[in-house]
Amino acid sequence: GNINLKIADTYEEMSREAAKIVITQVTNKADSVLGLATGSTPLGLYEEIVKTNKKKEIDFSKVRTFNLDEYYPIHPEDPYSYAHYMDVHLFDYLNLSRKHIHLPDGATTNVEQECRDYEAKIKSVGGIDLQVLGIGTNGHIGFNEPNHYFEKRTHLVDLNQETIEANAHFFGCSSKVPSQAISMGIASIMEAKRILLLASGKQKAEVIEKALFGKISPQLPASILQLHKEVYLVLDQEAAASI
Ligand code: GLP
Repeated sequence: GNINLKIADTYEEMSREAAKIVITQVTNKADSVLGLATGSTPLGLYEEIVKTNKKKEIDFSKVRTFNLDEYYPIHPEDPYSYAHYMDVHLFDYLNLSRKHIHLPDGATTNVEQECRDYEAKIKSVGGIDLQVLGIGTNGHIGFNEPNHYFEKRTHLVDLNQETIEANAHFFGCSSKVPSQAISMGIASIMEAKRILLLASGKQKAEVIEKALFGKISPQLPASILQLHKEVYLVLDQEAAASI
């Protein structure tokens, strides 16, 4: 159907498969708009892109990037910000133009305006060509937590305790994790032309099974991807254990 499934033996192979998809996107369309994700899962993907780029320089000079989310409040130069994460794991190694890089501004004093501006920027470049996604153990994509309705557009989110704890290892302890974030919404994500969802590890096996085969419900935000027309799902063995 609309979901192209690839099961890799290991996390490294999953990352290589994902890197191929991203690099092919960029080489086929020099001015691609990439939607990017953070968390532990895409670290291997970014490492692979950087490695491949070292061997045969890939031209990122026309590529635009939009990240899914950012903590709030947080300064972009804070070492725990997603802005900083993207610099040190990917952006600093590519010939990307700084003005082509976008993340929600975690230091904004006007969140509503920032959310509207972020959506407008995505629209102004014709939308996202390829959106990279991870998945939370509770089925969240971006920071769209389980809810009674699908959040449509970029918005301010209260993070769940489960999500705060899952991200505590980045901060050293859960009390340091900001309690809010600015995230692209489900409609923003669903409008991407192609979606690349990565999942690794046995702690993701159950949610992957539910997202793929369960009821489509805002209680499991990733389940909406069943309705997208072009999804690439790349898993390692452990994350694929329940399907
Ligand atoms: C974080 C991020 C998501 C990410 C998810 C899974 O909270 N905001 O974009 O996909 O949680 O994280 P990990 O890949 O570390 O399991």
